[in-house]
Amino acid sequence: MPYAQIEGWGMHLPSRIVPNESFVKMGLDTSDEWISSRTGIEERRLAGHNEATSDMAVKAAHRALRSAEAHASDVDLVIVATCTPDHIMPSTASLVQNRLGARRAGALDLNAACSGFVYALAMGAGQIEANRARRVLVVGADELSLHLDWRDRGTCVLFGDGAGAVLLRAAVEPGILKSTMGSDGSGADLLMIPGGGSRYASNGRNGSNNSGGRYLRMNGAQIFRWATQMMSRAAEEVIHDSGLKADQIDLFIPHQANLRIIESTARRLGLSEDRVFSNVGRYGNTSAASIPIALCEAIASGRVDEGDNLVLTSFGAGLSWAALALRWTVPIEGHPSRWTPIRQTFESRMAAVRSAMRRQQRRVRASLDERFRADGG
Ligand code: UT7
Repeated sequence: MPYAQIEGWGMHLPSRIVPNESFVKMGLDTSDEWISSRTGIEERRLAGHNEATSDMAVKAAHRALRSAEAHASDVDLVIVATCTPDHIMPSTASLVQNRLGARRAGALDLNAACSGFVYALAMGAGQIEANRARRVLVVGADELSLHLDWRDRGTCVLFGDGAGAVLLRAAVEPGILKSTMGSDGSGADLLMIPGGGSRYASNGRNGSNNSGGRYLRMNGAQIFRWATQMMSRAAEEVIHDSGLKADQIDLFIPHQANLRIIESTARRLGLSEDRVFSNVGRYGNTSAASIPIALCEAIASGRVDEGDNLVLTSFGAGLSWAALALRWTVPIEGHPSRWTPIRQTFESRMAAVRSAMRRQQRRVRASLDERFRADGG
């Protein structure tokens, strides 16, 4: 049975930085002191007007492919974990697959809200372990800022936008060790964006006028209480199932939602500060992107070494949670060859040309069919 290992990683953050003070200037009844002391968040990034989830996902994915020196055409499956897709359909993953030129790959979105990336990583690893794929690109990308009510101080200060990606490959040594996924739909109402789906349809069907339905609603205090317990329970499960002890965990990378949740979870697990990664201060909660972004930054800051044991744990709307233990197996130092970015640019252009040609081909075929039918064929 093959194992799955991470061989490439990459992230993208929008350039617009929004510090806590901006909310005060907007007239919101809040303060930098409240936000930073209650959440650890100091600033977040917000996507630009023409920046959709797939735009961020493609940039993160390009970087992941580049760091592995892999070709888009080597990828068998693209999974995009997101709860803010570009469209209800098609999947954001299909848009990413097309723009990367991953022409052999299947593509699907996975929605487990903030837990989505760890879910997707476990599913991608499963495809490799079952011998149904050799390379899987797993992206976490979200743009929750589109669903924030800027008058609701209980939610709008917490979230940011971004994307992160990893490339998984088949290998003879284990990288991904164990994973667990869970859901408790009895808490679905605690964190939701009610509109946009079939329950509160925008055409008024199902008795809804959809007012305010596009905004994220949350019972923060209840989520907080549940998350502090759930995060440590899920982490303990994968640590135990991997045959490890807590003191063998070199780095714990939890979902970046609130520094107090992260610290409480670390305390429950008995992990010292130097074995816990947090960047929530700079990006806020980026939903499905939070863990891959944290992983990339942990790598960049020298916190991950070959042979290290890592534990990822996430929680979010659903309610949903997931945890995954992995052994880091690839060298961090290797710099991609200087030809790799040039090759990637060429591949992206070729992908765009191929995509345009296919569209054209379809148009020509459709008009020929029509003419044929009109001629009574
Ligand atoms: O990916 C999952 C996403 N969700 C989460 O991770 C949310 C988890 N929950 C939390 O992080 C915390 O519960 C919050 C940060 C949302 C809230 O912190 P808290 O310490 O649990 O505050 P609270 O909800 O108990 O509210 C305390 C007070 C309230 O005022 P009153 O009723 O005591 O007068 C809130 O209205 O703080 C008020 N408050 C604020 N004050 C200033 C809530 N938000 C703000 C704010 N600025 N931005």
